[in-house]
Amino acid sequence: MKKRYSGFLTTVLACFLFCFSGLSFEANAQKKKSKTKDGTTATSDKGSIEAALNEAYTKYKDLKEGKNADYIPELAKVPSEQFAIVIVTTDGQVFSKGDIDALFSIQSISKVITLARNIEDHGAQAIQDKIGVDPTGEKFNSAVIVENKKGKEINPLVNAGAIASTSMIKGKDYNEKWNTIMQVHNDFAGRQLAVNDPVYKSEAATNQHNQALASLMNSFERMYFDPPQSVDIYTKQCAINVNTKDLAQMAATFANGGTNPVTKKKVVSPQTVAHTLPVMATCGLYDDSGIWFYNVGLPAKSGVGGGIIAVVPGQYGIAAFSPRLDEAGNSVRAQKAITDIVNKLNLNPYLVQPK
Ligand code: DON
Repeated sequence: MKKRYSGFLTTVLACFLFCFSGLSFEANAQKKKSKTKDGTTATSDKGSIEAALNEAYTKYKDLKEGKNADYIPELAKVPSEQFAIVIVTTDGQVFSKGDIDALFSIQSISKVITLARNIEDHGAQAIQDKIGVDPTGEKFNSAVIVENKKGKEINPLVNAGAIASTSMIKGKDYNEKWNTIMQVHNDFAGRQLAVNDPVYKSEAATNQHNQALASLMNSFERMYFDPPQSVDIYTKQCAINVNTKDLAQMAATFANGGTNPVTKKKVVSPQTVAHTLPVMATCGLYDDSGIWFYNVGLPAKSGVGGGIIAVVPGQYGIAAFSPRLDEAGNSVRAQKAITDIVNKLNLNPYLVQPK
């Protein structure tokens, strides 16, 4: 009996030790993967981030696939060779590689910044009701979806929904709305940005299709401010100049629950971020959003200027810039570079090892 009892105790002790060491091993692994005691990025992580950046940059530096957007004439003139990748961590560290000083127009990436401002100011339900959040699965500038759905369920990341989103921005007139938009872009980037005037003028002179989308949306009573003025504000918003670090800092602000990790300014609430990221995940790369999410598993947003941002919630904002685009309007090298970095650093949240 005594022997059986001591055997039982040994088993309990062994189990306890096994479980405990398992737990502490896991806790250490977790700590190593994310943060040190004082909340900063661990040195081992710094080394792997730098290695992943360098590797992706070297691998795709000479890739010439795709071509610049040219439906906005000024974008065709942007030097196609430019290539940059930046990661900003949620503890405010910056890792960069390539043409990090190159300025380019933000284009459609502005749609998520404006969307976030709208969710913050009007509430998530208002955006769902007044614009819609389902993916359209169509080209980003499709008029067919507006006609078919009578202006309803058009998400804010395709042009028709984005112009409606701009029209919803707080402010009683053109100037107030514009100032709100500029301010929220500055806050996400953590510095004062400026509009690229030649790009703005070039698009304003050739944006008849967007004007038609706004008119069509208006015919279904889905515009919330004067349509021509809304298109103009939208066009200006798309022409805001950024560099790749600005984009990575915007992405890192989303990754950090709406507070800019470098300036520490609270830009939007964590709840707003929690509603914005799923729209990015389902609609961020237009009609290729499904393919992107299938392969990478992270919310992202592209622009025809050649930029792409991807968000690793709680950890990193990643941005890449390269002007040559694929058929869907997404930068070829930016997609590939971010995908490689996500794989290398094991950042796909759906890739989990069984316990
Ligand atoms: O409205 C447009 O067509 C452009 N200002 C923005 C489009 C865009 O960036 C789509 N991106 N993939």
